[in-house]
Amino acid sequence: MVLASEISLYERLGGYDAIAEFVDELLSRLQNDPELGVYWKGHSRTSLRTERQLTVDYLCEISGGPVYYRGRDMKEAHDGLDISERDWGIFIKHFEDCLDSLDIHGKDRDDCMTIVEGIENVIAENR
Ligand code: HEM
Repeated sequence: MVLASEISLYERLGGYDAIAEFVDELLSRLQNDPELGVYWKGHSRTSLRTERQLTVDYLCEISGGPVYYRGRDMKEAHDGLDISERDWGIFIKHFEDCLDSLDIHGKDRDDCMTIVEGIENVIAENR
């Protein structure tokens, strides 16, 4: 019998496809946001696809899935973008809306928030 505590967040969220769906929803909201969209302006379609794939891989790995993230660390990837505390607040709102829209509640939601809040200080500058 598998104990609940042995089930990774990756599995509880529904695995790779569910996390990919979450990332697609999140990136679509971010890239269409009137304030945050500017961060992805001028990126080619293939760059956007690569960033999307790396974000899927990152979240799969950090949630305990069988995926090896081969991108840059979070500080390096966002260094120099000048992401402000205000930007971060808008990002979190979209992140929470995505959790709601995909019906992620309770402990799964709390664990997602813990992961994302844990990287705020390496992404947001101007603090
Ligand atoms: C306000 C919040 C955020 C903004 C505006 C933002 C924006 C960006 C942009 C513009 C890039 C491309 C950088 C480049 O040109 O090379 C990028 C890369 C990336 N971001 Fe974010 N990001 C945010 C938060 C996050 C968070 C919370 C995560 C993780 C959960 C994340 C994961 C990634 C990954 C995995 C990459 C690709 C790294 C690589 O190229 O090696 N981002 N982000």
